[in-house]
Amino acid sequence: MKNKKVLLRGFDKASQPLAEQTLTRAGYTLASTLTTAEVVVVGPLGFDTDALGPDPKKAVLIWENLRKNLESPTTGAQQDLPRRPVIERGNSSIRIVGIDVPLSGATGGQVPPAERFHRICLDAPFLNAARAVALGAAQGLPTSLEGVTAAAKTTVVLWVAHLLNQPVARLNLNGQSDVTELIGRYVPAGQGDEDWNLPALARLGHLLKPECLAIIQQALSENRSLDWAESTLIQAHTGLTRSRWRFQEGIVPQAMRKGGWVLLDEMNLAEPQILERLNPVLECPPSLLLTEGDGAWLGQGGIPVHPGFRVFAAMNPSDYAGRSNLSPAFKDRFLNWFQAQPPGEAEYRSQLQFLIHGQHPEVIINRCIYQGDRSEPVHGELASVEGIDGWIDGLASCQASLSIGVAGKRDGILFTRRSLNALLDLWVARIRESGPSAARTALGASLKDLYWNRIANTADRNASMGVAEAAGLPVEDAP
Ligand SMILES: Nc1ncnc2c1ncn2[C@@H]1O[C@H](COP(=O)(O)OP(=O)(O)OP(=O)(O)O)[C@@H](O)[C@H]1O
Ligand SMILES: [Mg+2]
Repeated sequence: MKNKKVLLRGFDKASQPLAEQTLTRAGYTLASTLTTAEVVVVGPLGFDTDALGPDPKKAVLIWENLRKNLESPTTGAQQDLPRRPVIERGNSSIRIVGIDVPLSGATGGQVPPAERFHRICLDAPFLNAARAVALGAAQGLPTSLEGVTAAAKTTVVLWVAHLLNQPVARLNLNGQSDVTELIGRYVPAGQGDEDWNLPALARLGHLLKPECLAIIQQALSENRSLDWAESTLIQAHTGLTRSRWRFQEGIVPQAMRKGGWVLLDEMNLAEPQILERLNPVLECPPSLLLTEGDGAWLGQGGIPVHPGFRVFAAMNPSDYAGRSNLSPAFKDRFLNWFQAQPPGEAEYRSQLQFLIHGQHPEVIINRCIYQGDRSEPVHGELASVEGIDGWIDGLASCQASLSIGVAGKRDGILFTRRSLNALLDLWVARIRESGPSAARTALGASLKDLYWNRIANTADRNASMGVAEAAGLPVEDAP
């Protein structure tokens, strides 16, 4: 049935885009006329099938039934697919969503901490993106994640790094970012000794005393600067005074030396010519000539690049405000370019179920079923609230409609996973104050504070509240 051309009939304006999104993600193509359609999907408002005429080849499907099938991965024949853990730990590698990633042994830098991820639901968009990140890490491919806001692009890179115990330097790019942030800059020399230009001194080694040369060569071979005693000795022997400025390497050369990951977040907010400076870094294998500093070569027979070094990027599509169009030559260097999918109704439902019941959904990727381990729910107290399952359904359906429907038209995507997490936090805080019997009022008030109050246009706000009401949620008037 998939790959067929479908036409939707019997949907209202809010629910049609949502159904279209679910169908296209499931592999259907949208038809624009009844004549070209092979399948007619009938929505909640109904449709007179007599209009189809005597065409026996056109299938008619009821949306409610089809939706359940699309959202429940393990139906029918799929029950026989093999089941695999999301994460399998080995001695020297970790298998993440079926991709074996060697541990890099990087030194220095910050590994993203576990606390960041305790409310992350391992659903299909998240695991597919994690798989792309794991692939980039395993194969040494520069990897870019492109997608709408809150599609978990940043989180997924940090999550995979966390699993691998991998330090990440995240650089939030913007219109004011310059090359020095990436590559390095001259800073005033302090009392430290890093301001000696050791490669330059080594080149003049034949003019130095052997003990000075030995100290310099030792420091170079250990890839470090001079300590206080070494520095003082060289100064005394040579009579040289150190430069008042020293070159401080930026995050890219540092990561290249130590095996860190660089995350270029919001990459297309930076000016394209700044990014182009990274072209040699994005080649496989990477290299970099520090023309801004002492002319050191990283890679290509120069200073060795640590095998764990990787570059990741995350960005919104170029039609978001302020984003630049990256040149094809630059984009081409990201051999692993992944389109991160936004969540739909099924994912919002899974997110709520995970927060409340601690259970991740089943996800099918490459004909295997993956499911994250059950964990302590973040908002377990909601599980005992009467009628919670109905509210989970209502919230998921309303959230999905709001995120791409009514409000999305005018103001862009206003309602995301961020807002849903915040809504639940506020709802739980209010239930704690007033008790579980006040759950309904608390939800109505929280929706008003965090959802309806955000919508500037009265007609859009009323329409959004109508969507919530139709989904069985308590609706309080905004002021
Ligand atoms: N699978 C998930 N389950 C629960 N929460 C999630 C999930 N994915 C993302 N989130 C939450 O959504 C928010 C947005 O995630 P993140 O910042 O990674 O998105 P992004 O794609 O990088 O967005 P932007 O384009 O705005 O930078 C975060 O608060 C994150 O915790
Ligand atoms: Mg981000």
